[in-house]
Amino acid sequence: MKSTDSFIEGLPKAELHLHLEGSLEPEQLFDFAGRNKVDIPFRSIDEVRAAYNFANLQDFLDIYYQGMNVLTTEQDFYDLTMAYCHRVHADNCRHVEVFFDPQGHTERDIPFQVVIDGIAGALQAAENELGMTSKLIMCFLRHLSEESALETLDLAEPCLDRIAGVGLDSSEVGHPPSKFINAFKRAGDMGLLRVAHAGEEGPPSYVWEALDLLKVDRIDHGNRALEDSKLIARLAETKMTLTVCPLSNTRLCVVNDMVDHPLKKMLDNGLRATINSDDPAYFGGYLNENYRAVADALALSKEDLTTLAVNSFLGSFLDPGDKAAHIKNVTDYAGEFGAID
Ligand code: HPA
Ligand code: ZN
Repeated sequence: MKSTDSFIEGLPKAELHLHLEGSLEPEQLFDFAGRNKVDIPFRSIDEVRAAYNFANLQDFLDIYYQGMNVLTTEQDFYDLTMAYCHRVHADNCRHVEVFFDPQGHTERDIPFQVVIDGIAGALQAAENELGMTSKLIMCFLRHLSEESALETLDLAEPCLDRIAGVGLDSSEVGHPPSKFINAFKRAGDMGLLRVAHAGEEGPPSYVWEALDLLKVDRIDHGNRALEDSKLIARLAETKMTLTVCPLSNTRLCVVNDMVDHPLKKMLDNGLRATINSDDPAYFGGYLNENYRAVADALALSKEDLTTLAVNSFLGSFLDPGDKAAHIKNVTDYAGEFGAID
């Protein structure tokens, strides 16, 4: 094993950009379809994998929404979440902040309560059994109306003890952050943190809108921010975290080849970039595979990797004391490895 790979394996880290429904592995797709008697248009795992060939975000989203149709019971959401927690815990991930898409389920008449009870139950069990902490972020689907987002906030209101924040995902271009000003304002008034996908396929103006109109605490992706030098300065000055997803970017053709990935440029510009897996079952890798892929392609140093792991805790929604404790673990580990002075 290369020394960078073993360094990545043992590096304590957090994951800040993971869609639980995007952790649905083809094997689980068949299991859940079978136990819930839901038809799927595939006969074999190979057929499923062959369909995971995307030219853009929308190609992926069409398959992603189709895949989540097999999730119907609280047990399904529990099992899906628990499997992800075990998988990422094996990558030495110590804390996760996970997205779910309630509208992808309530639109199919699965009650909000079923979804959140399954997910939050598993996250609590993962903390008890694995010592891995978590926060839950509820995303609004941006191709739907703001009214639907506001209705989803109503559904979430009795569950605020288990929801840390709101996010914005799905088809980006044509659905700018400005469409959701009222929903994000209300979420803020309810005490929820705010994040939004911006600058994945959409222009830098969408990142500006997420900052200025939605008052986000983090930007998910943010790749296209690099096209605007004023925006780079703003992100650097405000220490805004970017949750970057390397394998997602190449699989959705946001980046042509991993050697062209902007992650190193982000770090060189003083941006607080982090590495995340987005939808690992669809994009070919969990957290460490993302670290490895981008480290290989961009020849990242162990110091760069240490910075990325530190950033993952700095950018998390943990309390300052917990952040400091995790960061000490990262720097102690890097020091023992001889990666930093
Ligand atoms: N972008 C936007 N919406 C999503 C994604 C993504 O990468 N994954 C799941 N929903
Ligand atoms: Zn995402």
